[in-house]
Amino acid sequence: MFSVWILCVGLALTLVSNLIYDIWFHPLREYPGPRYAAASRIWYSLHVFRGHHKNAIKRLHDEFGLVVRIAPNELSYIDPRAWEDIYGRSAHENRTAALEKELDFFETAFNNSDSLVDANSRDFKSQKNNATRAFSNGSLLRRSPTMATYIDRSIELLRTYLSDKQVSTIDIDPWIGNIVLDTHAKLTISQDFGAVELGPIPHTLVTNMHRAVTTIQYCTQLQYLPHALKFLTKLMPSRDIFTVLGKIPPLGTAIAKRIAKEHDESVSQDFVSHMIQDSEADVRNIATVRSNATVFVLSAVETLPGFICSILYYLLETPEYYKAASNELRSRFGSSAEITLQSTQQLEYLGACMREGLRASPPAVGTLTRRIPPQGAEVCGRFVPGGVTVGIHNWSVTHSERFWTHPERFRPERWTGDGDYADDLRSVFNPFGVGPRTCVARHLVLLEATLIVAKLLFAFDMTLDPKNCGDWPVHKGHFVPTRGSLFIGLKPHLSEKSASTPA
Ligand code: HEM
Repeated sequence: MFSVWILCVGLALTLVSNLIYDIWFHPLREYPGPRYAAASRIWYSLHVFRGHHKNAIKRLHDEFGLVVRIAPNELSYIDPRAWEDIYGRSAHENRTAALEKELDFFETAFNNSDSLVDANSRDFKSQKNNATRAFSNGSLLRRSPTMATYIDRSIELLRTYLSDKQVSTIDIDPWIGNIVLDTHAKLTISQDFGAVELGPIPHTLVTNMHRAVTTIQYCTQLQYLPHALKFLTKLMPSRDIFTVLGKIPPLGTAIAKRIAKEHDESVSQDFVSHMIQDSEADVRNIATVRSNATVFVLSAVETLPGFICSILYYLLETPEYYKAASNELRSRFGSSAEITLQSTQQLEYLGACMREGLRASPPAVGTLTRRIPPQGAEVCGRFVPGGVTVGIHNWSVTHSERFWTHPERFRPERWTGDGDYADDLRSVFNPFGVGPRTCVARHLVLLEATLIVAKLLFAFDMTLDPKNCGDWPVHKGHFVPTRGSLFIGLKPHLSEKSASTPA
Protein backbone atom coordinates (compact mmCIF):
# COMPACT_ATOMS: atom_id res chain seq x y z
CA MET A 1 0.00 0.00 0.00
CA PHE A 2 2.80 2.34 1.00
CA SER A 3 4.63 1.69 -2.27
CA VAL A 4 1.44 2.54 -4.27
CA TRP A 5 1.32 5.87 -2.45
CA ILE A 6 4.95 6.54 -3.25
CA LEU A 7 4.29 5.71 -6.89
CA CYS A 8 1.27 8.05 -7.04
CA VAL A 9 3.12 10.90 -5.33
CA GLY A 10 6.12 10.36 -7.64
CA LEU A 11 3.87 10.44 -10.71
CA ALA A 12 2.09 13.58 -9.52
CA LEU A 13 5.40 15.33 -8.83
CA THR A 14 6.72 14.39 -12.26
CA LEU A 15 3.57 15.72 -13.94
CA VAL A 16 3.65 18.99 -11.99
CA SER A 17 7.36 19.56 -12.63
CA ASN A 18 6.86 18.84 -16.37
CA LEU A 19 4.01 21.30 -16.42
CA ILE A 20 6.05 24.01 -14.67
CA TYR A 21 8.99 23.39 -17.00
CA ASP A 22 6.81 23.46 -20.17
CA ILE A 23 5.09 26.72 -19.23
CA TRP A 24 7.93 28.76 -17.67
CA PHE A 25 11.28 27.26 -18.66
CA HIS A 26 10.82 25.52 -22.05
CA PRO A 27 12.85 27.08 -24.94
CA LEU A 28 9.50 27.78 -26.72
CA ARG A 29 8.10 29.74 -23.76
CA GLU A 30 8.33 33.09 -25.61
CA TYR A 31 6.17 31.87 -28.51
CA PRO A 32 2.51 33.00 -28.44
CA GLY A 33 -0.20 30.52 -27.53
CA PRO A 34 -2.52 29.54 -24.70
CA ARG A 35 -1.10 28.09 -21.46
CA TYR A 36 -3.24 24.96 -21.69
CA ALA A 37 -1.56 24.05 -25.01
CA ALA A 38 1.92 24.86 -23.73
CA ALA A 39 1.37 22.81 -20.56
CA SER A 40 0.53 19.46 -22.12
CA ARG A 41 -0.52 17.56 -25.26
CA ILE A 42 -3.88 16.69 -23.74
CA TRP A 43 -5.77 19.62 -25.25
CA TYR A 44 -4.42 18.85 -28.74
CA SER A 45 -5.03 15.10 -28.55
CA LEU A 46 -8.58 15.56 -27.26
CA HIS A 47 -9.41 17.62 -30.33
CA VAL A 48 -7.93 14.94 -32.58
CA PHE A 49 -10.13 12.30 -30.91
CA ARG A 50 -13.23 14.48 -31.14
CA GLY A 51 -12.47 15.32 -34.78
CA HIS A 52 -12.51 19.09 -34.26
CA HIS A 53 -8.79 19.60 -34.47
CA LYS A 54 -8.81 21.77 -37.60
CA ASN A 55 -11.19 24.39 -36.15
CA ALA A 56 -9.41 24.42 -32.80
CA ILE A 57 -6.03 25.18 -34.39
CA LYS A 58 -7.60 27.80 -36.66
CA ARG A 59 -9.14 29.57 -33.66
CA LEU A 60 -5.70 29.76 -32.05
CA HIS A 61 -4.23 31.31 -35.21
CA ASP A 62 -7.10 33.81 -35.33
CA GLU A 63 -6.32 34.80 -31.76
CA PHE A 64 -2.53 34.53 -31.54
CA GLY A 65 -1.31 35.22 -35.08
CA LEU A 66 0.97 33.69 -37.70
CA VAL A 67 2.77 31.30 -35.36
CA VAL A 68 1.26 29.57 -32.34
CA ARG A 69 2.61 27.10 -29.80
CA ILE A 70 -0.07 24.41 -30.05
CA ALA A 71 1.62 21.81 -27.82
CA PRO A 72 4.63 21.81 -25.47
CA ASN A 73 6.99 20.95 -28.31
CA GLU A 74 5.10 22.03 -31.44
CA LEU A 75 4.71 25.28 -33.37
CA SER A 76 1.99 25.78 -35.95
CA TYR A 77 2.51 28.34 -38.73
CA ILE A 78 0.35 30.14 -41.25
CA ASP A 79 3.05 32.69 -42.12
CA PRO A 80 3.49 32.50 -45.94
CA ARG A 81 7.29 32.51 -45.50
CA ALA A 82 7.09 29.24 -43.60
CA TRP A 83 6.35 27.27 -46.80
CA GLU A 84 9.87 27.89 -48.03
CA ASP A 85 11.58 27.86 -44.62
CA ILE A 86 10.08 24.53 -43.53
CA TYR A 87 9.52 22.60 -46.77
CA GLY A 88 11.34 24.49 -49.56
CA ARG A 89 14.11 23.11 -51.73
CA SER A 90 16.55 26.02 -51.32
CA ALA A 91 16.04 26.13 -47.57
CA HIS A 92 16.90 22.43 -47.40
CA GLU A 93 19.93 22.66 -49.63
CA ASN A 94 21.39 25.64 -47.76
CA ARG A 95 21.11 23.88 -44.45
CA THR A 96 23.50 21.35 -43.02
CA ALA A 97 20.59 19.11 -42.04
CA ALA A 98 17.12 18.87 -43.56
CA LEU A 99 13.91 19.25 -41.61
CA GLU A 100 12.86 15.59 -41.68
CA LYS A 101 9.31 14.36 -41.69
CA GLU A 102 8.14 13.40 -38.19
CA LEU A 103 9.45 9.87 -37.96
CA ASP A 104 7.68 9.20 -34.62
CA PHE A 105 4.41 9.87 -36.38
CA PHE A 106 5.23 7.36 -39.09
CA GLU A 107 6.56 4.83 -36.63
CA THR A 108 3.31 4.85 -34.71
CA ALA A 109 1.05 4.80 -37.74
CA PHE A 110 3.03 2.98 -40.43
CA ASN A 111 5.79 1.19 -38.51
CA ASN A 112 8.34 2.85 -40.83
CA SER A 113 7.45 1.05 -44.03
CA ASP A 114 10.18 2.98 -45.93
CA SER A 115 7.73 3.79 -48.68
CA LEU A 116 7.95 7.11 -50.46
CA VAL A 117 5.68 8.63 -47.81
CA ASP A 118 7.91 7.85 -44.84
CA ALA A 119 11.43 7.38 -46.23
CA ASN A 120 13.94 9.88 -44.81
CA SER A 121 15.33 12.77 -46.87
CA ARG A 122 18.34 10.69 -47.99
CA ASP A 123 16.55 7.49 -49.00
CA PHE A 124 13.49 8.98 -50.68
CA LYS A 125 15.34 10.57 -53.60
CA SER A 126 15.69 7.60 -55.95
CA GLN A 127 12.15 6.43 -55.21
CA LYS A 128 10.84 9.92 -55.87
CA ASN A 129 12.72 10.18 -59.19
CA ASN A 130 11.13 6.96 -60.43
CA ALA A 131 7.69 7.88 -59.15
CA THR A 132 7.94 11.35 -60.71
CA ARG A 133 8.49 9.71 -64.12
CA ALA A 134 5.44 7.49 -63.57
CA PHE A 135 3.26 10.45 -62.53
CA SER A 136 4.51 12.94 -65.14
CA ASN A 137 1.92 14.75 -67.24
CA GLY A 138 3.05 13.03 -70.46
CA SER A 139 2.97 9.56 -68.98
CA LEU A 140 -0.48 10.17 -67.44
CA LEU A 141 -2.00 11.58 -70.64
CA ARG A 142 -1.11 8.33 -72.38
CA ARG A 143 -3.29 6.52 -69.81
CA SER A 144 -6.36 8.66 -70.57
CA PRO A 145 -8.31 5.87 -72.35
CA THR A 146 -7.68 3.48 -69.41
CA MET A 147 -9.00 6.02 -66.94
CA ALA A 148 -12.04 6.89 -69.06
CA THR A 149 -13.00 3.19 -69.29
CA TYR A 150 -13.90 2.97 -65.59
CA ILE A 151 -15.86 6.22 -65.48
CA ASP A 152 -17.78 5.41 -68.67
CA ARG A 153 -18.63 1.93 -67.40
CA SER A 154 -19.79 3.33 -64.07
CA ILE A 155 -22.03 5.88 -65.81
CA GLU A 156 -23.52 3.08 -67.91
CA LEU A 157 -24.24 1.05 -64.74
CA LEU A 158 -25.68 4.12 -63.00
CA ARG A 159 -28.17 4.65 -65.84
CA THR A 160 -29.25 1.01 -65.66
CA TYR A 161 -29.48 1.19 -61.86
CA LEU A 162 -31.71 4.28 -61.96
CA SER A 163 -34.11 2.73 -64.46
CA ASP A 164 -34.13 -0.82 -62.99
CA LYS A 165 -34.65 0.34 -59.41
CA GLN A 166 -36.90 3.21 -60.42
CA VAL A 167 -35.00 5.58 -58.16
CA SER A 168 -33.90 9.13 -58.82
CA THR A 169 -31.67 9.71 -55.77
CA ILE A 170 -28.47 7.86 -54.95
CA ASP A 171 -25.51 8.07 -52.61
CA ILE A 172 -22.75 8.87 -55.12
CA ASP A 173 -19.87 8.30 -52.68
CA PRO A 174 -19.46 4.48 -53.09
CA TRP A 175 -19.75 4.75 -56.88
CA ILE A 176 -16.86 7.19 -56.93
CA GLY A 177 -14.81 5.17 -54.42
CA ASN A 178 -15.15 2.14 -56.69
CA ILE A 179 -14.16 4.06 -59.84
CA VAL A 180 -11.05 5.39 -58.08
CA LEU A 181 -10.06 1.98 -56.72
CA ASP A 182 -10.26 0.23 -60.09
CA THR A 183 -8.55 3.10 -61.91
CA HIS A 184 -5.63 3.22 -59.48
CA ALA A 185 -5.22 -0.53 -59.29
CA LYS A 186 -5.08 -0.65 -63.08
CA LEU A 187 -2.61 2.26 -63.30
CA THR A 188 -0.41 0.82 -60.56
CA ILE A 189 -0.42 -2.97 -61.07
CA SER A 190 -2.22 -3.42 -64.43
CA GLN A 191 -5.16 -5.12 -62.80
CA ASP A 192 -8.49 -3.88 -61.50
CA PHE A 193 -10.67 -5.42 -58.75
CA GLY A 194 -14.03 -5.34 -60.49
CA ALA A 195 -15.09 -2.67 -58.00
CA VAL A 196 -16.98 -0.59 -60.57
CA GLU A 197 -19.20 -3.61 -61.30
CA LEU A 198 -20.38 -3.53 -57.65
CA GLY A 199 -22.24 -0.29 -58.38
CA PRO A 200 -23.64 1.14 -55.13
CA ILE A 201 -21.77 -1.30 -52.86
CA PRO A 202 -18.34 -0.04 -51.81
CA HIS A 203 -15.52 -2.54 -52.39
CA THR A 204 -14.02 -3.96 -49.16
CA LEU A 205 -10.77 -2.16 -49.81
CA VAL A 206 -12.63 1.14 -49.98
CA THR A 207 -14.38 0.55 -46.65
CA ASN A 208 -11.26 -0.85 -45.00
CA MET A 209 -9.16 2.11 -46.03
CA HIS A 210 -11.83 4.45 -44.71
CA ARG A 211 -11.71 2.69 -41.32
CA ALA A 212 -7.92 2.55 -41.36
CA VAL A 213 -7.61 6.31 -41.79
CA THR A 214 -9.71 6.92 -38.69
CA THR A 215 -7.55 4.44 -36.75
CA ILE A 216 -4.36 6.08 -38.01
CA GLN A 217 -5.52 9.47 -36.76
CA TYR A 218 -5.90 8.06 -33.25
CA CYS A 219 -2.65 6.05 -33.47
CA THR A 220 -0.69 9.20 -34.19
CA GLN A 221 -1.49 10.45 -30.70
CA LEU A 222 0.09 7.39 -29.03
CA GLN A 223 3.56 8.72 -29.80
CA TYR A 224 2.97 11.47 -27.21
CA LEU A 225 2.34 9.09 -24.33
CA PRO A 226 4.81 9.51 -21.44
CA HIS A 227 7.80 7.15 -21.78
CA ALA A 228 6.52 5.00 -18.92
CA LEU A 229 3.35 4.22 -20.88
CA LYS A 230 4.89 3.77 -24.35
CA PHE A 231 4.64 0.00 -23.96
CA LEU A 232 0.89 0.40 -24.65
CA THR A 233 1.63 1.07 -28.32
CA LYS A 234 3.25 -2.39 -28.55
CA LEU A 235 0.00 -3.99 -27.45
CA MET A 236 -1.75 -2.88 -30.62
CA PRO A 237 -2.20 -5.81 -33.04
CA SER A 238 -0.34 -4.00 -35.82
CA ARG A 239 0.58 -0.42 -36.39
CA ASP A 240 1.80 -0.92 -39.92
CA ILE A 241 -1.49 0.07 -41.49
CA PHE A 242 -0.37 0.00 -45.12
CA THR A 243 1.14 -3.47 -44.83
CA VAL A 244 -1.94 -4.74 -43.03
CA LEU A 245 -4.17 -3.46 -45.79
CA GLY A 246 -1.73 -4.66 -48.42
CA LYS A 247 -2.04 -8.19 -47.01
CA ILE A 248 -5.81 -8.16 -47.32
CA PRO A 249 -6.75 -10.16 -50.39
CA PRO A 250 -7.05 -9.18 -53.17
CA LEU A 251 -4.63 -6.25 -52.94
CA GLY A 252 -1.65 -8.05 -51.37
CA THR A 253 -1.92 -11.02 -53.72
CA ALA A 254 -2.38 -8.83 -56.78
CA ILE A 255 0.66 -6.71 -55.92
CA ALA A 256 2.81 -9.81 -55.30
CA LYS A 257 1.71 -11.31 -58.64
CA ARG A 258 2.43 -8.07 -60.45
CA ILE A 259 5.92 -7.77 -58.92
CA ALA A 260 6.68 -11.36 -59.93
CA LYS A 261 6.08 -10.41 -63.57
CA GLU A 262 8.73 -7.69 -63.29
CA HIS A 263 9.55 -6.67 -66.88
CA ASP A 264 6.72 -8.47 -68.67
CA GLU A 265 5.65 -6.53 -71.82
CA SER A 266 1.96 -6.57 -70.86
CA VAL A 267 2.61 -4.50 -67.73
CA SER A 268 5.24 -2.15 -69.11
CA GLN A 269 3.14 0.98 -68.64
CA ASP A 270 2.10 0.71 -65.01
CA PHE A 271 3.49 2.56 -61.96
CA VAL A 272 5.22 -0.57 -60.62
CA SER A 273 7.20 -0.86 -63.86
CA HIS A 274 8.60 2.64 -63.18
CA MET A 275 9.46 1.73 -59.58
CA ILE A 276 11.45 -1.39 -60.53
CA GLN A 277 13.11 0.04 -63.62
CA ASP A 278 16.05 1.47 -61.76
CA SER A 279 18.85 -0.87 -60.76
CA GLU A 280 19.74 0.95 -57.52
CA ALA A 281 19.54 -1.49 -54.63
CA ASP A 282 17.05 0.44 -52.49
CA VAL A 283 14.65 0.94 -55.36
CA ARG A 284 14.80 -2.69 -56.34
CA ASN A 285 14.08 -3.64 -52.80
CA ILE A 286 10.90 -5.62 -53.25
CA ALA A 287 9.44 -4.59 -49.89
CA THR A 288 9.76 -0.94 -50.90
CA VAL A 289 8.14 -1.51 -54.27
CA ARG A 290 5.32 -3.39 -52.53
CA SER A 291 4.80 -0.60 -49.97
CA ASN A 292 4.74 2.02 -52.70
CA ALA A 293 2.26 0.06 -54.82
CA THR A 294 0.00 -0.12 -51.76
CA VAL A 295 0.44 3.60 -51.09
CA PHE A 296 -0.40 4.50 -54.70
CA VAL A 297 -3.64 2.51 -54.69
CA LEU A 298 -4.84 3.28 -51.19
CA SER A 299 -3.88 6.98 -50.95
CA ALA A 300 -6.11 7.59 -53.92
CA VAL A 301 -9.03 5.65 -52.47
CA GLU A 302 -9.20 7.87 -49.40
CA THR A 303 -8.34 11.30 -50.79
CA LEU A 304 -9.88 11.45 -54.27
CA PRO A 305 -13.52 10.44 -53.57
CA GLY A 306 -13.70 13.07 -50.79
CA PHE A 307 -12.32 15.71 -53.14
CA ILE A 308 -14.69 14.77 -55.99
CA CYS A 309 -17.74 14.60 -53.70
CA SER A 310 -16.92 18.00 -52.23
CA ILE A 311 -16.84 19.56 -55.73
CA LEU A 312 -20.21 17.99 -56.59
CA TYR A 313 -21.63 19.18 -53.28
CA TYR A 314 -20.45 22.76 -53.71
CA LEU A 315 -21.64 22.98 -57.33
CA LEU A 316 -25.07 21.61 -56.52
CA GLU A 317 -25.42 23.74 -53.42
CA THR A 318 -25.24 26.86 -55.61
CA PRO A 319 -27.27 26.19 -58.78
CA GLU A 320 -25.67 29.13 -60.57
CA TYR A 321 -22.23 27.46 -60.30
CA TYR A 322 -23.64 24.11 -61.35
CA LYS A 323 -25.22 25.71 -64.41
CA ALA A 324 -22.04 27.56 -65.37
CA ALA A 325 -19.97 24.36 -65.10
CA SER A 326 -22.38 22.19 -67.11
CA ASN A 327 -22.91 24.94 -69.72
CA GLU A 328 -19.16 25.11 -70.24
CA LEU A 329 -19.09 21.34 -70.81
CA ARG A 330 -22.09 21.20 -73.10
CA SER A 331 -20.97 24.12 -75.21
CA ARG A 332 -17.57 22.53 -75.71
CA PHE A 333 -18.33 18.83 -76.13
CA GLY A 334 -20.82 16.99 -78.32
CA SER A 335 -20.36 13.59 -76.67
CA SER A 336 -18.81 12.03 -73.59
CA ALA A 337 -16.13 10.42 -75.77
CA GLU A 338 -14.71 13.90 -76.44
CA ILE A 339 -14.12 14.39 -72.70
CA THR A 340 -10.56 13.22 -72.08
CA LEU A 341 -7.66 14.05 -69.78
CA GLN A 342 -6.32 16.29 -72.56
CA SER A 343 -9.55 18.11 -73.45
CA THR A 344 -10.61 18.79 -69.85
CA GLN A 345 -7.43 20.83 -69.36
CA GLN A 346 -9.05 23.56 -71.50
CA LEU A 347 -12.06 23.92 -69.15
CA GLU A 348 -11.35 27.22 -67.43
CA TYR A 349 -14.47 27.41 -65.30
CA LEU A 350 -14.40 23.81 -64.13
CA GLY A 351 -10.66 24.23 -63.47
CA ALA A 352 -11.44 27.20 -61.18
CA CYS A 353 -14.10 25.10 -59.38
CA MET A 354 -11.59 22.29 -58.79
CA ARG A 355 -9.04 24.70 -57.36
CA GLU A 356 -11.62 26.37 -55.15
CA GLY A 357 -12.76 22.94 -53.93
CA LEU A 358 -9.20 22.15 -52.86
CA ARG A 359 -9.13 25.42 -50.93
CA ALA A 360 -12.61 25.27 -49.38
CA SER A 361 -12.34 21.63 -48.36
CA PRO A 362 -8.63 20.66 -48.49
CA PRO A 363 -8.14 16.87 -48.67
CA ALA A 364 -4.89 17.26 -46.68
CA VAL A 365 -6.55 19.19 -43.89
CA GLY A 366 -3.99 19.06 -41.08
CA THR A 367 -0.34 19.87 -40.53
CA LEU A 368 2.49 18.47 -42.65
CA THR A 369 4.82 18.13 -39.69
CA ARG A 370 8.60 18.40 -39.76
CA ARG A 371 11.26 18.04 -37.02
CA ILE A 372 13.86 20.78 -36.49
CA PRO A 373 17.37 19.21 -36.71
CA PRO A 374 19.49 19.08 -33.50
CA GLN A 375 21.42 22.27 -34.25
CA GLY A 376 18.18 24.29 -34.63
CA ALA A 377 16.98 26.28 -37.64
CA GLU A 378 15.59 29.67 -38.53
CA VAL A 379 11.89 29.75 -39.43
CA CYS A 380 10.25 33.05 -40.43
CA GLY A 381 13.18 35.05 -39.14
CA ARG A 382 13.27 33.44 -35.70
CA PHE A 383 15.50 30.70 -34.31
CA VAL A 384 13.73 27.46 -33.41
CA PRO A 385 15.66 24.99 -31.21
CA GLY A 386 16.44 21.43 -32.30
CA GLY A 387 13.85 18.69 -31.77
CA VAL A 388 10.83 21.00 -32.06
CA THR A 389 7.96 19.92 -34.34
CA VAL A 390 6.94 22.59 -36.85
CA GLY A 391 4.48 22.74 -39.71
CA ILE A 392 1.93 24.71 -41.66
CA HIS A 393 -1.66 23.97 -40.73
CA ASN A 394 -3.48 23.63 -44.05
CA TRP A 395 -7.00 24.33 -42.85
CA SER A 396 -5.95 27.50 -41.04
CA VAL A 397 -4.03 28.73 -44.09
CA THR A 398 -6.92 28.11 -46.48
CA HIS A 399 -9.54 29.57 -44.11
CA SER A 400 -7.80 32.57 -42.60
CA GLU A 401 -9.45 35.95 -43.12
CA ARG A 402 -5.95 37.41 -43.28
CA PHE A 403 -5.50 35.83 -46.71
CA TRP A 404 -9.00 35.33 -48.16
CA THR A 405 -12.21 37.31 -48.59
CA HIS A 406 -15.09 35.24 -47.16
CA PRO A 407 -12.83 32.20 -46.70
CA GLU A 408 -15.71 29.98 -45.57
CA ARG A 409 -17.54 30.41 -48.89
CA PHE A 410 -16.97 28.34 -52.04
CA ARG A 411 -16.32 30.98 -54.72
CA PRO A 412 -14.80 29.74 -58.02
CA GLU A 413 -14.59 33.39 -59.18
CA ARG A 414 -11.60 33.82 -56.85
CA TRP A 415 -9.60 32.05 -59.54
CA THR A 416 -11.12 33.78 -62.60
CA GLY A 417 -10.03 37.37 -61.89
CA ASP A 418 -13.17 38.65 -60.09
CA GLY A 419 -12.40 42.07 -58.53
CA ASP A 420 -14.13 41.14 -55.25
CA TYR A 421 -11.35 38.62 -54.59
CA ALA A 422 -8.45 40.66 -55.96
CA ASP A 423 -6.88 40.89 -52.49
CA ASP A 424 -6.83 37.14 -51.87
CA LEU A 425 -3.28 35.92 -51.22
CA ARG A 426 -3.34 32.97 -53.61
CA SER A 427 0.36 32.20 -53.05
CA VAL A 428 -0.36 30.77 -49.59
CA PHE A 429 -2.45 28.05 -51.21
CA ASN A 430 -0.32 24.91 -51.69
CA PRO A 431 -2.71 21.96 -51.49
CA PHE A 432 -0.03 19.48 -52.53
CA GLY A 433 2.77 20.85 -50.36
CA VAL A 434 6.02 22.59 -51.34
CA GLY A 435 9.62 21.47 -52.03
CA PRO A 436 11.21 18.05 -52.49
CA ARG A 437 8.41 16.18 -50.65
CA THR A 438 5.42 17.59 -52.59
CA CYS A 439 2.67 15.18 -53.52
CA VAL A 440 3.93 12.90 -56.26
CA ALA A 441 0.38 12.53 -57.62
CA ARG A 442 -0.50 16.22 -57.85
CA HIS A 443 -0.99 16.23 -61.66
CA LEU A 444 -2.86 12.95 -61.57
CA VAL A 445 -5.23 14.12 -58.81
CA LEU A 446 -6.35 17.18 -60.75
CA LEU A 447 -6.54 15.41 -64.13
CA GLU A 448 -8.47 12.44 -62.78
CA ALA A 449 -10.87 14.36 -60.54
CA THR A 450 -11.67 16.82 -63.36
CA LEU A 451 -12.30 13.94 -65.78
CA ILE A 452 -14.69 12.20 -63.38
CA VAL A 453 -16.60 15.39 -62.47
CA ALA A 454 -16.80 16.47 -66.14
CA LYS A 455 -18.13 13.13 -67.34
CA LEU A 456 -20.73 12.95 -64.56
CA LEU A 457 -21.93 16.52 -65.15
CA PHE A 458 -22.17 15.81 -68.86
CA ALA A 459 -24.10 12.56 -68.45
CA PHE A 460 -26.65 13.63 -65.84
CA ASP A 461 -28.81 16.50 -64.70
CA MET A 462 -28.18 16.73 -60.97
CA THR A 463 -29.69 18.22 -57.85
CA LEU A 464 -28.64 18.15 -54.21
CA ASP A 465 -30.90 15.90 -52.20
CA PRO A 466 -32.30 17.47 -49.00
CA LYS A 467 -31.43 14.19 -47.22
CA ASN A 468 -27.85 15.45 -46.89
CA CYS A 469 -27.21 17.14 -43.64
CA GLY A 470 -26.69 20.84 -44.28
CA ASP A 471 -23.06 20.72 -43.21
CA TRP A 472 -21.80 17.96 -45.50
CA PRO A 473 -18.43 19.60 -46.20
CA VAL A 474 -17.82 20.31 -42.52
CA HIS A 475 -15.79 17.15 -42.14
CA LYS A 476 -14.19 15.88 -39.03
CA GLY A 477 -10.66 14.58 -39.33
CA HIS A 478 -7.10 15.27 -38.30
CA PHE A 479 -5.03 14.96 -41.46
CA VAL A 480 -7.54 13.58 -44.02
CA PRO A 481 -11.19 14.60 -43.63
CA THR A 482 -13.57 11.75 -42.90
CA ARG A 483 -16.66 11.94 -45.06
CA GLY A 484 -20.16 10.50 -45.21
CA SER A 485 -22.76 9.78 -47.87
CA LEU A 486 -23.54 12.36 -50.55
CA PHE A 487 -27.11 11.99 -51.79
CA ILE A 488 -27.85 13.53 -55.15
CA GLY A 489 -30.79 13.48 -57.51
CA LEU A 490 -29.76 12.17 -60.94
CA LYS A 491 -31.54 12.21 -64.28
CA PRO A 492 -29.79 11.10 -67.46
CA HIS A 493 -29.29 14.24 -69.54
CA LEU A 494 -31.57 14.14 -72.58
CA SER A 495 -28.97 14.30 -75.34
CA GLU A 496 -26.92 11.65 -73.56
CA LYS A 497 -29.97 9.45 -73.02
CA SER A 498 -30.90 9.53 -76.69
CA ALA A 499 -27.27 8.89 -77.62
CA SER A 500 -27.21 5.76 -75.48
CA THR A 501 -30.68 4.47 -76.44
CA PRO A 502 -30.56 2.16 -79.48
CA ALA A 503 -32.74 3.40 -82.38
C1 HEM B 1 -6.66 15.30 -53.43
C2 HEM B 1 -5.75 14.40 -53.25
C3 HEM B 1 -4.41 14.60 -52.62
C4 HEM B 1 -3.89 15.64 -51.91
C5 HEM B 1 -4.55 16.98 -51.56
C6 HEM B 1 -2.53 15.27 -51.53
C7 HEM B 1 -1.69 16.09 -50.79
C8 HEM B 1 -0.40 15.74 -50.45
C9 HEM B 1 0.49 16.59 -49.69
C10 HEM B 1 0.15 17.95 -49.13
C11 HEM B 1 1.68 15.93 -49.58
C12 HEM B 1 2.95 16.45 -48.92
C13 HEM B 1 3.12 15.86 -47.54
C14 HEM B 1 4.29 16.48 -46.79
O1 HEM B 1 4.95 17.42 -47.28
O2 HEM B 1 4.54 16.03 -45.67
C15 HEM B 1 1.53 14.65 -50.24
C16 HEM B 1 2.53 13.70 -50.35
C17 HEM B 1 2.38 12.51 -51.01
N1 HEM B 1 1.29 12.10 -51.74
FE1 HEM B 1 -0.46 13.10 -51.97
N2 HEM B 1 -2.26 14.03 -52.03
C18 HEM B 1 -3.36 13.58 -52.72
C19 HEM B 1 -3.50 12.39 -53.37
C20 HEM B 1 -2.50 11.48 -53.56
C21 HEM B 1 -2.61 10.28 -54.36
C22 HEM B 1 -3.83 9.91 -55.19
C23 HEM B 1 -1.42 9.63 -54.25
C24 HEM B 1 -0.95 8.34 -54.89
C25 HEM B 1 -1.36 7.90 -56.04
C26 HEM B 1 -0.56 10.42 -53.39
C27 HEM B 1 0.72 10.08 -53.05
C28 HEM B 1 1.55 10.86 -52.26
C29 HEM B 1 2.89 10.45 -51.88
C30 HEM B 1 3.59 9.15 -52.26
C31 HEM B 1 3.41 11.49 -51.09
C32 HEM B 1 4.79 11.56 -50.42
C33 HEM B 1 5.77 12.22 -51.35
C34 HEM B 1 7.14 12.44 -50.70
O3 HEM B 1 7.28 12.36 -49.50
O4 HEM B 1 8.09 12.69 -51.45
N3 HEM B 1 -1.25 11.54 -53.00
N4 HEM B 1 0.26 14.57 -50.78
